[in-house]
Amino acid sequence: MSFPTLHARAEGKPFEHRSCLTPTTAKKLLDAGYPVLVERSPTDPNYSRIFKDAEFEKAGATLVDTNSWETAPDDRIVIGLKELPEADSPLKHTFVHFAHCYKQQGGWEQVLARFPRGGGTLYDLEFLQDSTGRRVAAFGYHAGFVGAALAIKTWSWQLTHPNGEPLPGIETFTDGRGYYNNETELIAQLKEDVAAGEKVAGRKPTSLVLGALGRCGSGAVDLLEKVGCPEIKKWDLPETKDREGPYPEIIESDLFVNCIYLSKPIPPFVNLESLKSPNRKLSVVCDVSCDTTNPHNPIPIYNINTTFDKPTVEVSVEGNGPRLSVISIDHLPSALPRESSEAFSDALLPSLLALKDRTTAPVWQGAEKLFNEKSETLPGGVPAKEV
Ligand SMILES: NC(=O)c1ccc[n+]([C@@H]2O[C@H](COP(=O)([O-])OP(=O)(O)OC[C@H]3O[C@@H](n4cnc5c(N)ncnc54)[C@H](O)[C@@H]3O)[C@@H](O)[C@H]2O)c1
Repeated sequence: MSFPTLHARAEGKPFEHRSCLTPTTAKKLLDAGYPVLVERSPTDPNYSRIFKDAEFEKAGATLVDTNSWETAPDDRIVIGLKELPEADSPLKHTFVHFAHCYKQQGGWEQVLARFPRGGGTLYDLEFLQDSTGRRVAAFGYHAGFVGAALAIKTWSWQLTHPNGEPLPGIETFTDGRGYYNNETELIAQLKEDVAAGEKVAGRKPTSLVLGALGRCGSGAVDLLEKVGCPEIKKWDLPETKDREGPYPEIIESDLFVNCIYLSKPIPPFVNLESLKSPNRKLSVVCDVSCDTTNPHNPIPIYNINTTFDKPTVEVSVEGNGPRLSVISIDHLPSALPRESSEAFSDALLPSLLALKDRTTAPVWQGAEKLFNEKSETLPGGVPAKEV
């Protein structure tokens, strides 16, 4: 089987700096025999990829023009992370990215129909599965990592700003960039935050992480341990299966980081009534799971998603306890683009290495089958290929 040429798109989505291929994985693909082309990234810092063009060049990849995938030969495999820019033109290539059109999201028909109309194929990253049915690559670990980081920041901010001022957007912490260059920069900053909070509170924060054995939960636990806040209740199914919430242990922790995968209705972990407890220490909830609009949201104390420029929403609570802020950002890994891209791309690498055998490799066969099934659900059936 011959090696297809892999063509990494320059994405240019505002404030998104992650990428599906990294210099590390590009080199491994090149070493395995794949030709790898990488589009030059936009230079505007709001739109640019975290990995510089020169890093890809040094890894051996060939730099090509931004958006050159559109006119590239039909047999290229076009790799990206986020959805394609909105358009109506038919798509003739094989694409690998998160297209957000398989769950009937708004406008899904137009997005999906472009592939069969051009004779193209979509391998949606969200649905790539191994033989056990587990996703091959996800961003969960860094979602939990960044979520716990923002929880620490908020705890420290509340203590050092007792007038009730909300935590400012994270770009104000990193000279206007809106993300952290790397984990070292983030951890160094958080250690200062912990020290500033500890000076006022006389102690470090205690935390409860729910879903601690999952991807997001393990990231949250690692962050808290790395910044020197090891007093963590690490809960998963064994701790909740025989006892219904609300749980007093949550109210009695300073930080609550929710990282569960909600698959069925469950009693709330915390609700407005339980917050009235005189034992409440809880002052920050980071809802990494972000089931904000789900009718079974197990944290029914807030109802909006927050953003990096306005990371918290305040909860009005009766009683004399501390103020309570909730963080509910649904794209947390974007704030740590280098490490989250590296981890995602590394997990995806075995599948990418199997692209030359994609007509037989189970991961790509499964993705193609799903693409065909979803195309059949388009209103009017699979559209004919336009010539
Ligand atoms: N906010 C973001 O930016 C962001 C990014 C990625 C993922 N997510 C979301 O985070 C959630 C978790 O994702 P993941 O990849 O970590 O999932 P995962 O399956 O790896 O982990 C979920 C964990 O939750 C546990 N769990 C489920 N129900 C529980 C309950 N009732 N009590 C205790 N533990 C319970 C499971 O046992 C598992 O260990 C998903 O909803 C996902 O969509 C959010």
